[in-house]
Amino acid sequence: MLNITINDRKLQAPEGWTILQAAREHGISIPALCDSEGVEPYGACRLCMVEIKHGNRSRLVASCLYPAEEGLVVETDSERALAARKVTAELMLARSPHAKKVQDIAAALGIKHTDLVIKGTDCILCALCVRTCREVVGASAISLSNRGVEREVAPPLGETAHDCIGCGSCVYVCPTNFIKMDDVDGVRKIHNWKVEFKMKKCKVCGNYIAPEKQLEHFSKKLGIPLDFFDTCTTCRK
Ligand code: FES
Repeated sequence: MLNITINDRKLQAPEGWTILQAAREHGISIPALCDSEGVEPYGACRLCMVEIKHGNRSRLVASCLYPAEEGLVVETDSERALAARKVTAELMLARSPHAKKVQDIAAALGIKHTDLVIKGTDCILCALCVRTCREVVGASAISLSNRGVEREVAPPLGETAHDCIGCGSCVYVCPTNFIKMDDVDGVRKIHNWKVEFKMKKCKVCGNYIAPEKQLEHFSKKLGIPLDFFDTCTTCRK
């Protein structure tokens, strides 16, 4: 176990944990948007910045990436950390002013409104969709491409996401509702990736279950016979 100090509290954290994990474990809250259970930390949003101290020197680090170290001293709400977080939250709000999650994060930091306007899309480049698609679903249908102001989440070469299975995980994890999906008359469309999928119907009740391609993917991945998905979970009981 490592001995660390967070906000003057002496705590212990197992080797390999990040500062964010240690803080959460001990009930200390740090805002974090691009960190999520089930995917590797990525350090994109910078909302989780905290100040760490080594002797007389201090610096800001992303707590979702920085590992707990023996003797580490952390201040989660120092003046510098809060100032950095506010700048980040304001930029995020300027980019995605209608996203409830972004509004809530900004409001918690005292920002209710910004006059800044960042033109572009609602995507805040947190890459939760990319990482979930790759690490949880195992499809790797989308990725981050380009640099600077051109940076975006897109299918390979900006074309159709051929490897997309239509599960919609990217839609569910997107904190700004940037990714649009609908199910109409047995067809699922994920508009951002220019893909559509035929939905499978339950052979008992006739309700749509999920895209056929998604069921084939999970049948192979989990070793479950495909006909297991002929009926929906309700009719299977
Ligand atoms: S949660 Fe740490 S950078 Fe986003």
